[in-house]
Amino acid sequence: MILLTGITGNIGGATARALLDKGVKFRAIVRNPEKAAHWAEQGVELITGDLRDEDAVRAALKGIDRAVLVLPNGEEQEPTELAFIATARQAGLPWLIKLSSPEAIRGTSSPIPLAHIAAEDAMMASGMAWTFVRPSFYMQNFRSSPATCRQTGKLSMPMGKGTVALTSTEDAGDFIAHILTDGNPAQHHGQCYDITGPDPVMNFHDIAKAIGEVIGQEVVYDDCDPAAFQEAIRPFHKNQWHSDAVARLFAEIADDSTPGHKTDTFQKIMGRPGISLREYLKSVA
Ligand SMILES: NC(=O)c1ccc[n+]([C@@H]2O[C@H](COP(=O)([O-])OP(=O)(O)OC[C@H]3O[C@@H](n4cnc5c(N)ncnc54)[C@H](OP(=O)(O)O)[C@@H]3O)[C@@H](O)[C@H]2O)c1
Repeated sequence: MILLTGITGNIGGATARALLDKGVKFRAIVRNPEKAAHWAEQGVELITGDLRDEDAVRAALKGIDRAVLVLPNGEEQEPTELAFIATARQAGLPWLIKLSSPEAIRGTSSPIPLAHIAAEDAMMASGMAWTFVRPSFYMQNFRSSPATCRQTGKLSMPMGKGTVALTSTEDAGDFIAHILTDGNPAQHHGQCYDITGPDPVMNFHDIAKAIGEVIGQEVVYDDCDPAAFQEAIRPFHKNQWHSDAVARLFAEIADDSTPGHKTDTFQKIMGRPGISLREYLKSVA
């Protein structure tokens, strides 16, 4: 039996959709059952609980042989993931898959990748079989860009000369569902999968150009002031810690400390290319 976390969010939701498409039954732990009611209607077994609650996690793990750990960024991510890993180990969970990030590279001083590194280390030391799925920069980060760029003609982000590879969250969920249901799961144990879509590594001029092509008007990249950008997106963040951590992550992209790298892992394992940025943008334009 599979346990999913985070099904009311991007990757957990995409994984849940892909499992349902395959006709696979699974359990999910959710904080707010009303928000997840549509999943229950589709036959998903819901357990109500917070991942910070050890008893709830223990109950959710009963009878589970594969679990996927997805948590959003925030100061509680690292302690919550470490607690989940410890509880899963004590409960004898055979295999844990963690959503991580390709920016989780030793040497970073940025809190978000550092939290992923701490959880990856704990999983590798746990004795459980582990798999890390690390999608590159989400295409969904540009969800509202076609509409904004239509009005402004600019893609305003403080990304300097930085580069990213891009992945659709739907593809990432499909990938996780694939490895969860693979007839030979052992081949995925002990694997760190950095996945990307089919596009070449792009800088933000390239991304602006792609948006422009899709909306049929010129879009230029505006390497805007990081402090002003942080202020503009502050309402989307939970608190100052989160806002500062995202700013730090973006600064590491901007100064090219974490250049994008494209991989063929998705294509090799899925036997198909991921969705391209232009395809994704067309779907939201
Ligand atoms: N953005 C990128 O480009 C990118 C790229 C690679 C990797 N990542 C990684 O992706 C991860 C975020 O994934 P996502 O985008 O799928 O997140 P998301 O859309 O924000 O969803 C987070 C999910 O976790 C649930 N959740 C949060 N706190 C919880 C708790 N204490 N107990 C139980 N459930 C809880 C949320 O439930 P509620 O609905 O109740 O809030 C929601 O379902 C981060 O770790 C990030 O580093 C991001």
